[in-house]
Amino acid sequence: QEKVTTATIKQMKAEGRPVTMLTAYDYPMARMVDEAGIDMILVGDSLGNVVLGYDSTLPVTMEDMLHHVKAVCRGVSRAMVVADMPFLSYQVSVEEAVRNAGRFLKETGAQAVKLEGGQEVAGAVRAIVNAGIPVVGHLGLTPQSIHQLGGFKVQGREERAARKLLSDARALEEAGAFCIVLECVPAPLAKVVTEKLQAVIIGIGAGPYCDGQVLVTHDLLGLYPKFTPRFVKKYLNLHENIAAALKQYKEEVEERTFPGPEHSFGMSEEVLKKLY
Ligand code: KIV
Ligand code: NA
Repeated sequence: QEKVTTATIKQMKAEGRPVTMLTAYDYPMARMVDEAGIDMILVGDSLGNVVLGYDSTLPVTMEDMLHHVKAVCRGVSRAMVVADMPFLSYQVSVEEAVRNAGRFLKETGAQAVKLEGGQEVAGAVRAIVNAGIPVVGHLGLTPQSIHQLGGFKVQGREERAARKLLSDARALEEAGAFCIVLECVPAPLAKVVTEKLQAVIIGIGAGPYCDGQVLVTHDLLGLYPKFTPRFVKKYLNLHENIAAALKQYKEEVEERTFPGPEHSFGMSEEVLKKLY
């Protein structure tokens, strides 16, 4: 089937068709997400939390991201692959931002990059877009600024913060971002942004009125037991299923019921005799 492009995503907003996005960090999960028909696959820097075991996204490096984006691209044929730019790969200078964004397209099969922030990153967004690289913005709860935000909480509830979020979204759109993720903002604010902007608005903890939705796949599968935000719907509890399977394996090896004859190989009696 045809590859999803920025044109596909923009057309979906125009036609009022919801855009689906999920994260993936490796080949098998990317294959499953793509085969499920999800439109966009984000290789998020949530990699740091759910795969690498860090307690924030801050330690994630360009090399970490490139390694995982390459694996994801090998498993995807239809979805658009979006590479998340890690902390400090786009904030220091516009030049570094373009060079790092470019590495994702040059060295992996990604079609777009995502970065966090509004007005303050508009210059970087414009330069990256001018280099021919589609950009997804990210506003609201931006985990790379967690120490400045002072914790994981809903963003944009007060008038000042809500106005700021709307103007940041406009700045990103003007800079050329074709799509913006809104994380952990009041549903009515996300509705206003979705209606006022042409950019495709993808929500996570941003209510039902966005153009599309994204979740961290490990969260919806119940694969990350450490912490589940309220906005996550757990469709499975894979952590418990896997724990039970591992426990059963241990028991069967210890009581010698695994491996059974169906898992074992034999040889002729004649050959065997010669060994004694
Ligand atoms: O890193 C990530 O998974 C993200 C999504 C939560 C949007 O940025
Ligand atoms: Na991210």
